[in-house]
This record gives sequence, C-alpha cells and structure tokens, in this order.
Amino acid sequence: MPYPDHALDVPEQTAVAAAAASAPSVLNSQPWLFSTGPQGVEVHADPRRAPTATASARRDVYLSCGAALFTVRAALARLDRAVRVSVLPEAGDPLLVARVTVTGDGGDPEAAALYRWVGDRRTNRHPFRPEPVPAGVLALLGGAAEHEGATLRRLDAEPEYQRVLTLIRRASLAEDDAVREDGADRLTGVPPAVPVENLGPVPRRDGTDGGAVRDLAPDLALPGRGTAAFEPHPELAVLETAEDGPASWVAAGQALQRLLLEATGHGIAASFANQPLEDAELREEVSSSAAHFGHPQMVLRMGYPLTRPPAAPRRPQHEVLRRVGR
Ligand SMILES: Cc1cc2nc3c(=O)[nH]c(=O)nc-3n(C[C@H](O)[C@H](O)[C@H](O)COP(=O)(O)O)c2cc1C
Repeated sequence: MPYPDHALDVPEQTAVAAAAASAPSVLNSQPWLFSTGPQGVEVHADPRRAPTATASARRDVYLSCGAALFTVRAALARLDRAVRVSVLPEAGDPLLVARVTVTGDGGDPEAAALYRWVGDRRTNRHPFRPEPVPAGVLALLGGAAEHEGATLRRLDAEPEYQRVLTLIRRASLAEDDAVREDGADRLTGVPPAVPVENLGPVPRRDGTDGGAVRDLAPDLALPGRGTAAFEPHPELAVLETAEDGPASWVAAGQALQRLLLEATGHGIAASFANQPLEDAELREEVSSSAAHFGHPQMVLRMGYPLTRPPAAPRRPQHEVLRRVGR
C-alpha cells in the first residue's frame, strides 16, 4: 500500500534522528535509541549508558530522553508535519519513552521556530558576562517550561538563592572528593563523555567562582584547561515538576530543551548545577523551603556567554538509529 504524502522519507528520518541526538544528556551519555519509519519516530531509553556514579541515574536518563523527544517534535514541525505524541505508551515497556506519530501536514509553528536553534545550543561552562538576564526573557523561558508541564522557579529572592547555593557548594565538596577517586572514569567511562574543550575553565575557588559552576574534572591537570573567575551572581533557577516519576521526568526533559532553545534564540547560554539533585537528601532540601513544593529536576545557571564552546561529540548515528518498515 502506498504511503500517504506526509510519510517520512529516509533522508527526513535521518535528519530527525540527527537533531534528536544533539539534545543535552547527562554527562553526554546519550542514553537513547531512535526507531524511525515512514510513520514517525520512537524514542527508547538505553539505561546501559546511564552514568553509574550517581543515585539519580534513572531520572537523568528520562530527562535526557525527554530533551531528545522535544527535539524530535521540533524537527518534525520544521518538516511541516503534524504529530501525535504518546509518552510511555506501553505499560509493559518502560524503556519506550515516547511514540511520535505523523498524522498529517502542518507542523506546530512555535516548535518549528525553535528548531532553528538546535545546532547552536551548547552547555556553556565558561564565565558569563555579569549583566542580568532580562526579566522579559526569563518570563519567556518560564512560559516555555510551563508549556511542557514544568515550572522554572527563579531563585530571585536572596535568602533562597543563598540557601540553594549553599546546597550546591555542599554537594560540590562531596563530589570533588568522589571525583578525585574516580575522576578519569567520569570523563572517559561513557565515551565520548565530556571532552576537555567542553569542561570550561577550572573555577577559582576563591569566592569569584559564582559557586554554581560544576567542575566535572576537579584536580585533573588537563592540558589546555586554564582557570577563570566566574560572574559573581549568576542567574539561577530550578526546573521543577508537580509530580515525580518517569512521566514527569520526560516532561521536565522536554521543558528543558524547549527553554534552552528559546534561551539560545535570545543569546542566553546555560550550564547546570545538578550536584545537589544527585543526592536524595540534598534534593529534598532544594525543594523544602520553597513557597510552593515542586520536585526539582534541574538546576540552571544562565547568562550571556563570553565564549562559545565547540559542539560536544555525539555517538555515530548507526549506534542510535534503527529503521523500521512502518
Ligand atoms: C539530566 C541532565 C543533567 C545534567 N547535569 C549537568 C550538570 O550537573 N552540570 C553540567 O555542567 N552539565 C550537566 N548537563 C549537561 C550535559 O553534560 C551536556 O548536555 C552534555 O555534556 C552534552 O553537551 P551539550 O549540552 O553542549 O550538547 C546535564 C544534562 C542533562 C540532560
């Protein structure tokens, strides 16, 4: 039977999978597999690639797959396809994160517009300019998160800002000790992981590090990596969901990518300080004194970048793409 006009041809399937694979993922582990066919795309989780060092590995896999899922939606919208998205569609298959079915022509124009920024988005662990992110842009980013069922909680009240910063610092100290023991694994354990060019400079731990930059390789003397003072008071925000569990993690991942693409379009870069979320007790504390109670999924540092890091490497497509006939 001939396929309808809106069926995806092979180059279109390849392009959608390539875009999806450029999504952010925990420690660049890329814990996903894509099945593509004329009728759409499935996003599967590949937990074998989850970093083993943290207690949040399962959550981080779903967050990463959620970011890839939003990218699939944006890429299909750019191809002018309307889609139906089913998150966790098979109760017996928790690794099938989502099924995206092409239903006709006419892509969502907002998602299509965001596709433009997919190739430009980077996690940026370099210092940012000291200027604040404009309130209007932050409102747009909040709207992007809400569109996907999550909340971007700005840490705009100083006591709350300092409270979360203290939790980040506490987690960083514990992590620095752990990474000192298995640092090489962290960098090379899940190839291609995070290469030195993407680590950013070593933050000066002298009060000028802004406190919220995560050094993924403390104490490893890596050639080509300098030190730097960071902006003193970065914009910090917590991406939260009302519930906690795989469906919420996928929603948060979609919200993350949606708001990061929106931010990229406004010249804003982000890095993440998820270290307190990787410890069950500290994660509780990140949410516990907030005026409203959400489940924290990501801690974001945002600002105007001074440096543009290279695109972090991705696994070869044949490892992550499976073509199916339907
Ligand atoms: C769930 C999740 C957690 C992450 N946690 C951190 C983090 O705590 N610190 C950090 O610097 N980057 C973090 N990242 C960013 C990844 O390291 C980054 O996406 C990956 O290295 C690929 O680089 P890219 O975003 O520039 O494409 C996280 C990403 C995801 C999706």
